Amino acid sequence: MDPIAEFQKERKERIISYGNDKTLSEVTKNFCDITNEKKYSYNFSWLGRPIIQYPQDMMALQEIIWEVKPDLIIETGIAHGGSIIFSASMLELLGGEGEVIGLDIDIRPHNRKEIEAHPMFKRIRMFEGDSTSPEIAEKVYTIAKKHNKILVCLDSNHTHEHVLKELMLYAPLVSVGSYCVVFDTVIEDLPETMFTDRPWGKGNNPKTAVWEYLKLHTEFVINKEIENKLLITVAPDGYLKRIL
Ligand SMILES: C[S@@+](CC[C@H](N)C(=O)[O-])C[C@H]1O[C@@H](n2cnc3c(N)ncnc32)[C@H](O)[C@@H]1O
Repeated sequence: MDPIAEFQKERKERIISYGNDKTLSEVTKNFCDITNEKKYSYNFSWLGRPIIQYPQDMMALQEIIWEVKPDLIIETGIAHGGSIIFSASMLELLGGEGEVIGLDIDIRPHNRKEIEAHPMFKRIRMFEGDSTSPEIAEKVYTIAKKHNKILVCLDSNHTHEHVLKELMLYAPLVSVGSYCVVFDTVIEDLPETMFTDRPWGKGNNPKTAVWEYLKLHTEFVINKEIENKLLITVAPDGYLKRIL
């Protein structure tokens, strides 16, 4: 077998074996339970802007962006701007004219100032408002018409109702072969006591929204290989690949 194919085969087999490994899943669950409680996802920055993510998920997104080569990335949930700067920087590396749309209900002035001053802002458009409002959706759809390969990342309000609405609005824009990445599906798997001060929790979160959406939308499948290889992710069942 040629060495490249052999490497790929070995990697695939190893990743499949992770999916059936009870010890690994216990270690991973412990890590996720403890680090989520300790706000680990707030520790990192991408090109100078705080990004509220686990580094493993950013590695997966880098792989997806390289594979799909989108010319538009639509993101709900900007916060400090780290994730839209991440996406813009990946599009910069791809070359071409790719751009990022970021949506947030509340773009704080200090964050807006830093994002707008960032060298990657040249590839970013931000819209302030509820990501599920008709006015915001219309703006997104107008821009999306000019693009061929679209990737969507959902990371705003994490209630079932809100994420389901976002999925219904923005997942249809995802190109065949591309992804809709739904973050914070992990909420379903974390201890119930962790979200007493939040409107979301077990039974009401991005993962339950994904499950409901997928019942009627067979054009998407969960790419389990991604979470199996990452082991540590905030998006289990959240890497949705459009196959039809
Ligand atoms: C978890 S943060 C986003 C983190 C960001 N994607 C990153 O990786 O750095 C969630 C953001 O969603 C925004 N948000 C909450 N409800 C929203 C809504 N209904 N529409 C749009 N954005 C919303 C919040 O203002 C907050 O900035």
